[in-house]
Amino acid sequence: MGTITIDGRKVEFTDEKNVLSIIRKAGIDIPTLCYHDELSTFGACRLCTVEDNRGRMFASCSEEPRDGMEIFTNTGKLKKYRKMIIELLLAAHCRDCTTCVKSGDCNLQALAHRFGVTEVRFQNYREERPLDFSSPSIIRDPNKCILCGNCVRVCSELQGVGALGFAHRGSEAMVMPAFDREIATTECVNCGQCRVFCPTGAISIKDDKDAVWDALADPNVRVVAQVAPAVRVAVGDAFGLPKGKSTMGKIVSVLHRMGFDEVYDTTFSADLTIMEEAAEFVDRVKNGGKLPLLTSCCPAWVKFVGDQFPDFQENVSTCRSPQGMLSAVVKEYFRDPEKSGGKKTIMVSFMPCTAKKMEAKRKNSYTEGEIDTDYVITTTELIQMIKTTGIDYAELESESSDIPFGLGSGGGVIFGVTGGVTEAVIRRLVPGHDKATLDGIAECGVRQDGFIREFTIPYNGMDVNICVVSGLANAKTVMEQVQSGEKNYHLIEVMACRRGCVMGGGQPRLANDKIKAARTTGIYNADNVSVIKKCDENPMVISLYEGFLKGKEHKLLHNEEFCSS
Ligand code: FES
Repeated sequence: MGTITIDGRKVEFTDEKNVLSIIRKAGIDIPTLCYHDELSTFGACRLCTVEDNRGRMFASCSEEPRDGMEIFTNTGKLKKYRKMIIELLLAAHCRDCTTCVKSGDCNLQALAHRFGVTEVRFQNYREERPLDFSSPSIIRDPNKCILCGNCVRVCSELQGVGALGFAHRGSEAMVMPAFDREIATTECVNCGQCRVFCPTGAISIKDDKDAVWDALADPNVRVVAQVAPAVRVAVGDAFGLPKGKSTMGKIVSVLHRMGFDEVYDTTFSADLTIMEEAAEFVDRVKNGGKLPLLTSCCPAWVKFVGDQFPDFQENVSTCRSPQGMLSAVVKEYFRDPEKSGGKKTIMVSFMPCTAKKMEAKRKNSYTEGEIDTDYVITTTELIQMIKTTGIDYAELESESSDIPFGLGSGGGVIFGVTGGVTEAVIRRLVPGHDKATLDGIAECGVRQDGFIREFTIPYNGMDVNICVVSGLANAKTVMEQVQSGEKNYHLIEVMACRRGCVMGGGQPRLANDKIKAARTTGIYNADNVSVIKKCDENPMVISLYEGFLKGKEHKLLHNEEFCSS
């Protein structure tokens, strides 16, 4: 606790861990490229440098605040220093800004504008390196890397994977997987968090938009869309609408205008997932099956289990993910010649997640030899597609999703946040749907703060121990505790990305704390206004089970065998 003087104004501090946080609290947007409050401090870019009253310059991200400090954030010396740093970074950076996929979304580009860097006086002596296209989810371009180390730290510190590291020294330093292997051959789980934290175009999403445009232009093809819960709370922001507000109706409308024949809602198949996963859980409890049951909706988590905890493969639910279920059901539905009208069906899924691109290509994402999901488009790509059309998204009238797979319950919507799958399972298992029951479930511990949530609920005379985890490094901690016998759970829900799919690797970048919170609130608000709260009360789900799905439940909704990539 204490007070520091920033540019002549006194600012109190309490538990801020560094000077940078206090400067930001004072409303000054000090530039940074290598600092993130969720990661360890690296202190590499030096852009956050400030000057004290004795002329000493230091990186504010790496300095602990002391009572009585006096600092300046915008002296002439600092402005020149920052401009020079940006110029040097640009000098060692490929210069195809106008055609770079991150143009307009690049922190380095934004800082160059902000500090008036209009020329680069130095030549780029770095040898041009090949791009790594091996991953189904991301592309690595080492020529655009500024060595901030964000990807290295997020991969090891938040995700517990460590697929990327630094190699060589000095001007030869580079970020790469061990032994310069292709990223697809490593333990990378395709979560895309490295891309979220990358300030430049060095890591970007594997783009599938052109293939989708081609399909939309083909008159012999029926193009069907499904839209995941977390997508709807992240698109509006890009078009000036309130942060975190669900714009599902506008998404349906814009996809129809682009030419999609049907637009379905992944909340429908999230309901199917809960029907199947709750049944699987009860069956394992009653019949002595493998416990804890590990959720299977998140493909990055499933790959993580395969790579790091192979002994737990049988614990992973056999349920396909909501994406996998809906695509399999839709493809089967249109296999009927009467429904297909002689057209081939192309399934496009709009997801907040880069790992879904990997899941779609997994061996067990095929039915009768045909791929279930043809293309996965992330929220970021969807926003780019909307911008390409020139449609005024903000003014667009809302439309409802198409029938028969366009209606989901509130339980399906909350899949977009950490704890959502578990909460929906509890809703399914607990009788009743009155407000008091649902409020009681929401307060059982499933929505508590934190990335690891432990709680116990009563079910059929037993105490069910549950753990809800987000962030794979946290999942690793939990799994090691389970492995050693220190913890004993019946159900573990894991989402690879912290806070769940709302903060997935395919969502728009540069989300501050307000945006993160708004997306979560947006998901819960969408649940609040849904009339149907539980999967087993969704009339479309009931009629599917009673009709079309009869006898095909296992084929369309479950995986024959564990498969992680
Ligand atoms: Fe402080 Fe990069 S943000 S050194």
